[in-house]
Amino acid sequence: MTSRKKLIAGNWKMNKTSADAVTLVKDLLLEVGKTTDVDIVVCPPFTALESVGKLLNGTLVKLGAQNMHPEKNGAFTGEISAEMLRALYAGYVILGHSERRSYFAESDAFINQKVIAALKNQLRPILCVGETLAERESGATLKVVQTQLEAGLEGVGKDLAPSLVIAYEPVWAIGTGKVATTAQAQEVHAFIRSLLVKLFGEPVAQKLRILYGGSMKPANAPELLAQADIDGGLIGGASLESRSFVELIRAAAAAK
Ligand code: 13P
Repeated sequence: MTSRKKLIAGNWKMNKTSADAVTLVKDLLLEVGKTTDVDIVVCPPFTALESVGKLLNGTLVKLGAQNMHPEKNGAFTGEISAEMLRALYAGYVILGHSERRSYFAESDAFINQKVIAALKNQLRPILCVGETLAERESGATLKVVQTQLEAGLEGVGKDLAPSLVIAYEPVWAIGTGKVATTAQAQEVHAFIRSLLVKLFGEPVAQKLRILYGGSMKPANAPELLAQADIDGGLIGGASLESRSFVELIRAAAAAK
């Protein structure tokens, strides 16, 4: 079995001023700044990317953004390009988060354009997929995940595929305190890996990290992270406070 280094990413969503983000990152660096056995990514809001990026410069913790526009530049009021993110030393960008899909009507085709633009600009996309409660209850989970994944990755070649990160985030588990059972999560993660094998071949698919997201907390993380195809977490609420974020990173380091 290929061993994949675990990745813990904090998605701070629309939380924290630039000053608050700096305080959190300082705490984080004190606790886990020297961690080498887990990849750590923080994704603050756009307004804190620059201040957080300056603090992270020269450390092992990486900077990520929560969204971007696929175009290089132009008349897109309120939007941010891949080039702008790269200029702030962002290395990752979350794309296709369910909150973007539902509140901002982002389609698979639009998300796909962003994935392509991110890869062209040396940004690693964290492509999010996941079903709603109604979809799960109607037995459509795997179909929904397959559609989102295949459409989101259309046109991505084997050459750029190694830069991808996938996040499985069941919508019904996000911010609700309802975590997927380890069996539910592992089933979908293994399914996603089988789709990645078809798209990119076994060697590439075995190296890609598939993160779980949705009410991941220090209490449930060890069991989730012990699953064969769960390679880390995309953390919302529990990444807003250094103590729980650090505990999650330690759980990932301890997971085999
Ligand atoms: P919570 O951890 O708050 O459920 O959020 C998960 C998420 O949406 C991360 O992107």
